[in-house]
Amino acid sequence: MSRKLIVGNWKMNGVRQSANDIVLALKQRIANDNNLRADLAICPPFTLLESVGRRLGGSDVALGAQDCVVVPEGAYTGDVSPIMLKDAGCAYVIVGHSERRQYHQESNALIKQKATAAIKAGLTPIICVGETLIERQSEQTLAVIEKQINACLPDSATSQNCVIAYEPVWAIGTGLNATEAQISDVHAFIRRTLIQLNPSLNKVKVLYGGSVKPSNAKAILSLGSVDGALVGGASLNPSDFFAIAQAVS
Ligand code: PGA
Repeated sequence: MSRKLIVGNWKMNGVRQSANDIVLALKQRIANDNNLRADLAICPPFTLLESVGRRLGGSDVALGAQDCVVVPEGAYTGDVSPIMLKDAGCAYVIVGHSERRQYHQESNALIKQKATAAIKAGLTPIICVGETLIERQSEQTLAVIEKQINACLPDSATSQNCVIAYEPVWAIGTGLNATEAQISDVHAFIRRTLIQLNPSLNKVKVLYGGSVKPSNAKAILSLGSVDGALVGGASLNPSDFFAIAQAVS
């Protein structure tokens, strides 16, 4: 069985001082626990990639970004390309987060292009999918997820070069949790959808995200269909983020 992956999504939080404090505290905890059974990654804002990457040096914690554009370079003021992220030391990039879909009107088609460009640059895209509350209440969840997976997954995707994160929009930053049954159902459905797309996608890691915290991490990460977690708010607290990683047994 492959190791579970715990990814911290810092969102638009942090300046160098607070970022350094978090990374230092996290590295200390890792150094004191040689029994950690999860792989870790941190996705700080663009401005902190360089300094966080440097501070993480020598640890097993991978670096990731929160978004990228499709083109490699050129006259695109304000944008950052996958090649630049790779050059900055990133291994991962989150694409299609619901906050990008909501605030930047990102479509499934664009997310597919971003994920494709990320893979081409040697990054592992973490492709986010998830239903809104209205979609869940009107029993659209599986239809929405199926559409997102089919439309967002790059043709070049393999079990090794991409990751999916199931994040019910209504559970992000709200303290609301999907139940274990809801998580299991959707994760199993995602697995079936991936295999239908291409049987070789049967080992793509499928993370869960949405108000994951130390108090619920064990229950969520013990589910056989959950290959890890995408952690927002709790990843800004090194004790909480580390406790979530420790919940992997
Ligand atoms: P949350 O965010 O853990 O704060 O709910 C998760 C995410 O948006 O990736």
